[in-house]
Amino acid sequence: MDEDVKVCLTEREIPRKWYNIQADLPHPLPPPLGKDGKPIGPEALAPVFPMNLIEQEVSTKRWHAIPEPILEVYRLWRPSPLRRARRLEKALKTPAKIYYKDESVSPPGSHKANTAVAQAYYNREFGIKRLATETGAGQWGCALSLGCKLMGLECKVYMVRISFDQKPFRKMMMRMWGGQCVASPSMETQAGRTILQQQPNTPGSLAIAISEAIEDAVTSKDTRYALGSVLNHVLMHQTVIGLETQKQMKKIGLYPDVVIGCAGGGSNFAGMAFPFVADRIHGKSVRILAVEPAACPTLTRGPFAYDSGDVAMMTPLLAMHTLGHAFVPAPIHAGGLRYHGMAPLVSHVLREGLIEAAALPQTECYEAAMLFANTEGFIPAPETSHAIAAAIREAKRATEEGKERIILFNYSGHGLMDLNGYEAYLNGKLTDYELPDQELQTSLKCLEGLPKPPPLQG
Ligand SMILES: Cc1ncc(COP(=O)(O)O)c(C=O)c1O
Repeated sequence: MDEDVKVCLTEREIPRKWYNIQADLPHPLPPPLGKDGKPIGPEALAPVFPMNLIEQEVSTKRWHAIPEPILEVYRLWRPSPLRRARRLEKALKTPAKIYYKDESVSPPGSHKANTAVAQAYYNREFGIKRLATETGAGQWGCALSLGCKLMGLECKVYMVRISFDQKPFRKMMMRMWGGQCVASPSMETQAGRTILQQQPNTPGSLAIAISEAIEDAVTSKDTRYALGSVLNHVLMHQTVIGLETQKQMKKIGLYPDVVIGCAGGGSNFAGMAFPFVADRIHGKSVRILAVEPAACPTLTRGPFAYDSGDVAMMTPLLAMHTLGHAFVPAPIHAGGLRYHGMAPLVSHVLREGLIEAAALPQTECYEAAMLFANTEGFIPAPETSHAIAAAIREAKRATEEGKERIILFNYSGHGLMDLNGYEAYLNGKLTDYELPDQELQTSLKCLEGLPKPPPLQG
C-alpha cells in the first residue's frame, strides 16, 4: 500500500470562510420576481427569513467569514475525511483513482448539518425563537432539529408523507433533538388542508411541504422559515465541503479530472462543486457533473424558466430548471431528490456551460450502492447512490480508454435510516420509472403565463 486511504485535516485547517460563487459568475443570476413579475427587493423576503440571511442571499461578496459559534459546532464532525475508494477501484478493475468526501459523519448523517447549524445561528442572532421547515428524506429535518437544539431554538418539521411512512426512525431522531415532526400534507395549515381535500391519498412532495412550512412561519410568532437547499445562502454554507476537499487533494498532490455530486435541490452538489467551478472559471480544466434521478429529471429535461419553489406559489419566482411547481414526482426511494426545481445557481452554471448533468435510473443507483457497500463497507443514502453510480460510469469509461483518471465525488450521507429501500431492492421489488414526456408536458402547463428569463448576453 503506497498511499493512505484517508486524507485528514486538523481542526485548525477547517476553512474559516464560505465561498460565494456569485462573485465570479460570467453573467449575473436573473433576479427573483414577485407576483407582479417585477424583481423583488430584500424586504419582500423579510417575513420569511431573517435579514442577516437575506443579506447573504443577495450578496456578491466572494468570501463570507464563518462565525466562531458555528465553527465550534462544525468541529464536532469537521473536517470530514476524504477517502480513496481503493477496494471499489479494484472491483471495477479500473486505472482510475476514485476519491469521496465523506459528509455522512455529521450527527444526523449528511451534509445538511453544515447549513442547519448556520441558519439556526443567524436566526438566533436576529432574535428568532422558532423555525419551521420541510423535509424530504428526513435528513434535513434531523439536521435542522439538531441545529436548533444546539442554538436554543424550537423546530417544526413538515415531512413529505411518503418519507414519513417509509422512515419512522428519522422522526424519532428529530424528536430526540427536540424537533416536532408532522406528515405533510397535514391538517395544520390551510395549504395542507386544501391539498388533502383534493387528493386525500397523495404521497406528498417537497413543494407541498414547503408551502406548509412557509405558511406556518408567516402566521406564527417569532418564527421564520428555513430551507435545506436551493437558495443561494444555503449553497454558500455548503462550500465548506469543496473548500476542505481542495485542501485535502492538495495535500496528496492531486487534482480531480471530474467532480460529481447528486442533485435534489442542488446543495451538496454545489457545496462540493462550486469551489471547483471557480477554478474552471479561472482557466483550470475540470469536468463537473450533477446527477439526478430519471424519475425527477429537472436539470436534464426541465426547461430553464421562472417558477415558484412551492405548490401554493408562496415563494418568489426563481429562474431555474423546473418540472413545474405542481409536479409530484414518483415515489422513488431517494426522497431528497424528489424536487420539481433546482437551485437557481446550479441551473445558472449549467446554462453557462460550466457544469454537466445526467439522469440515472433508480435500479442502477441501488446496484452501485450495493457494490459500494460490498467493497468500501459503508451503506450510502439512496440520494448519494446517484453520485456513486455516476462515479462508477466514469471509472468504467476510464477503463475503456485506458486512462488513469482522478474521479472525485461527494458522499452526501449514509443510508442507515433508509433500509427499506434496500429491502425493496434485495427482494426484487424495485422498478425504474422514466418520466413520460406526456406527463412532463402536462406538468409544465403550470408555467404558462409566468415571465421568461432573459437570454444570456455577450
Ligand atoms: C443524503 C442526501 N444527499 C442529497 C440530498 C439532496 O439534497 P441537495 O441536492 O440539496 O444536496 C439529500 C436531501 O435530502 C440527502 O439527504
